[in-house]
Amino acid sequence: MTASESPTLLLRRVRPYGEGAPVDVLIRDGHIAAIGPDAGAGTSPDVERHDLDGAVLLPGFVDLHTHLREPGREDTETISTGSAAAALGGYTAVFAMANTQPAQDNQTVTDSVWRIGREVGLCDVHPVGAVTLGLKGEQLTEMGQMADGAAKVKIFSDDGMCVYDPLIMRRALEYSAGLGVLIAQHAEEPRLTRGAVAHEGPNAARLGLTGWPRSAEESIVARDAILARDAGARVHICHASTTGTVELLKWAKDQDISITAEVTPHHLLLDDSRLETYDGVYRVNPPLREAHDTLALREALVSGVIDCVATDHAPHAAQEKCCEFAAARPGMLGLETALPIVAALLVETGDMTWRDLARVMSVRPAEIAGLTDQGRPIEVGEPANLAVVDPDSPWTVIGDELASLSANTPYEGMTFAARVVGTVYKGRMTSRDGKVLA
Ligand code: NCD
Ligand code: ZN
Ligand code: ZN
Ligand code: ZN
Repeated sequence: MTASESPTLLLRRVRPYGEGAPVDVLIRDGHIAAIGPDAGAGTSPDVERHDLDGAVLLPGFVDLHTHLREPGREDTETISTGSAAAALGGYTAVFAMANTQPAQDNQTVTDSVWRIGREVGLCDVHPVGAVTLGLKGEQLTEMGQMADGAAKVKIFSDDGMCVYDPLIMRRALEYSAGLGVLIAQHAEEPRLTRGAVAHEGPNAARLGLTGWPRSAEESIVARDAILARDAGARVHICHASTTGTVELLKWAKDQDISITAEVTPHHLLLDDSRLETYDGVYRVNPPLREAHDTLALREALVSGVIDCVATDHAPHAAQEKCCEFAAARPGMLGLETALPIVAALLVETGDMTWRDLARVMSVRPAEIAGLTDQGRPIEVGEPANLAVVDPDSPWTVIGDELASLSANTPYEGMTFAARVVGTVYKGRMTSRDGKVLA
């Protein structure tokens, strides 16, 4: 369906950014046509009406870090099932990481992921291009070709692996500056994490797990900030996880280095005390840290030192998670639980307003990626990419009921107050009350 064929929608009684009295929002031809108490006046009765009882209306969320597993591991997620999870989570654009099989390291693969995302049509699916061939860290990819292809690749990352060689990273940053694209780094010095499965600290020591020190992340963040400075390039830090990384980001931003960073909902909420049960569901890279790290990350998100939330949605098959902790694959689901967690930690506590949440889940990530039709203000004439949130609709997470093909959620059985009750993508409802609309 093209935008001109999309239905006219009337969102009844919503509160943009959770501010003021409820209004009606009329959506026509993929854009916001009217906002106000009488926005729907005079529209024909066959307009698609949604009564939303004063729910919060936000710009649709943008995820800079998702793993969709297609091509290669369609048993754990596909572009279709991942897009469904995104729509249920309030997302209208996701960036699909390059560590697929084969890797998204050439234009054929990136354009194919883009095309399948368009056919599914539940959200924008932007393939991330690999920085190096096969994510091996040795030889740069043809970033220019991927950027010029149908997918117009905007972000490049070897996520899952670190671009560890400083000379390769330096060249990648230099090329990226020329192309006007962004390098996103998985900051992990591999010489410091050999065999590591858990955060290096008292808990890992007591449980007999090999430690992943904070320095493995922080040494790469510091190095890449300096490389970006000297290359006149931008760099983005994936899944920031430590107090020290926050301090380094603050330092780099104070020097006007073009550095941005994301934090995941799980690093904001969970710490390594979870590892007590040896449950593989809690294994993730970077690992769950300590309580003071979660607090520093929350503060940094509120202050803007960390720019945005990204899910690092990482589906894995049951047999890859339900084993001995050290043998479990790292990664956890995130798309369908991100909003409730960020709302619980930062809005329900009074640390952030809904407008602040829109900044970290939509506006900033869209700006970082250079998207022009996402993360836009809720105003007449703007593209209708929107999320509707009920702040008081308690629900309990059940992994098997999530739209993701995998069930590796660390939040099994946890209850959250806020919930996404509707998502509008290009003027059409893609999810409503927990159901995906085709
Ligand atoms: C990710 C995955 O499974 O692809 N795993 C993870 O623990 N975060 C890779 C990554 O983001 O580094
Ligand atoms: Zn990573
Ligand atoms: Zn990742
Ligand atoms: Zn438009």
